[in-house]
Amino acid sequence: MVDTIDTIFNKAKQGRVLFQDRNALSPEFIPDHLPFREVQIANVAEVLAPALHGSKPSNLLLYGKTGTGKTAVARLVIGKLQSQDDSKQIMTLYVNSRLAGTEYRTLFKIAEGLPLDEEKKIPLTGLSISEVVGRIFQAIQKNAIHFILVLDEIDYLVNAHDDTLYQFTRAGEQVAPGFLTIVGISNDLRFKEGLDPRVLSSLGEEELVFAPYTTEELRSILAERAKVAFKPGVIPEATINLCAALAGSEHGDARRAVDLLRIAGEVAEREGHQRVDEESIRKASDKVERDRVEEALHSLPFQNKIIIIAASKFSAGTNTGELYLAYTNLARKSSVEVLTQRRVSGILAELDVLGLVEAAVVSKGRRGRTKRIRLLIDNETLARVIGEDARLLDLV
Ligand SMILES: Nc1ncnc2c1ncn2[C@@H]1O[C@H](COP(=O)(O)OP(=O)(O)OP(=O)(O)O)[C@@H](O)[C@H]1O
Ligand SMILES: [Mg+2]
Repeated sequence: MVDTIDTIFNKAKQGRVLFQDRNALSPEFIPDHLPFREVQIANVAEVLAPALHGSKPSNLLLYGKTGTGKTAVARLVIGKLQSQDDSKQIMTLYVNSRLAGTEYRTLFKIAEGLPLDEEKKIPLTGLSISEVVGRIFQAIQKNAIHFILVLDEIDYLVNAHDDTLYQFTRAGEQVAPGFLTIVGISNDLRFKEGLDPRVLSSLGEEELVFAPYTTEELRSILAERAKVAFKPGVIPEATINLCAALAGSEHGDARRAVDLLRIAGEVAEREGHQRVDEESIRKASDKVERDRVEEALHSLPFQNKIIIIAASKFSAGTNTGELYLAYTNLARKSSVEVLTQRRVSGILAELDVLGLVEAAVVSKGRRGRTKRIRLLIDNETLARVIGEDARLLDLV
């Protein structure tokens, strides 16, 4: 046992020959140079610049697909704005609504960043939303704060409740002589459709779209970040190219690219390689894919998991009728409501979108068409997820 520990630690020490600054590839790290985002950076800076002479900037909406640099751009610009503020009136704050979890907790986080009077501090639970919003406004007004609030993954707030956003985007008089400018960020391209038109018109005073990166752009982003993260000579160009190609093949997602590179580095390090080669990138890519599947699987409702287990009984795939029969048996066995075949078909379509099953329409000749269902989850991953839920273990 002691041997193993020493081996692990020795390997780790040797591994330091690969990374120079592993942190430079961590998800939280914001590089201070973001290639191919000069236009967006300049735009955000221009919209927010009036704050530096005491005027309220327009609200701003940033949107675009995942991994296109929205968060990085917003954080970079508010950081610079804060450091250029000689008046000391400007306050910038970044809050992620999805990570905060609920609307109340989002507001709690915002309040935490503000100088609320002792007796006005927000408890972790218990106040009404409007009371919390009121106290936030009061603090902005009383301290004449020029407040620039970045609300990331703002769609999570919208789905909960439109009213808070409405109030935020129209705070106006209520917070004077302070002001409140909202920079909203979303990667849900349909999110605007669900928005109250009044909110949309004030939140989207200014709008900025982030296009996916091309593979070529990813390549050059990765090369730059690799220079900081790894020691010289550790990353061959072919590795960067493969990494960019893999991340670019779905849609130009820089997060995926950076994650792949970091994990590949860790893999190569663990295996005691001197360089991060293409093989490490492929292993990293498999790992990322397995993690994605596992995460998707974890968060499924119980009924969906039962359907997955039913599908796992047919290693070569099956048709909807057979699958439904297997599902019914399992549902009875675990004493949950037995869903209709129509509902189960609906769930299968959702699982298809998540990439957990493949549901392909096949022709049965004169007898019409049916769907061929095949599970896309490897046994190991499935067993891990099932193993964590006693109710599921009973079914296998
Ligand atoms: N132009 C760039 N140069 C260097 N790194 C970048 C660039 N754009 C994005 N990144 C990096 O890619 C990762 C994802 O970027 P970011 O978090 O800004 O994406 P996002 O658009 O906010 O995605 P999501 O909608 O999923 O939150 C981060 O690690 C970020 O540092
Ligand atoms: Mg983001």
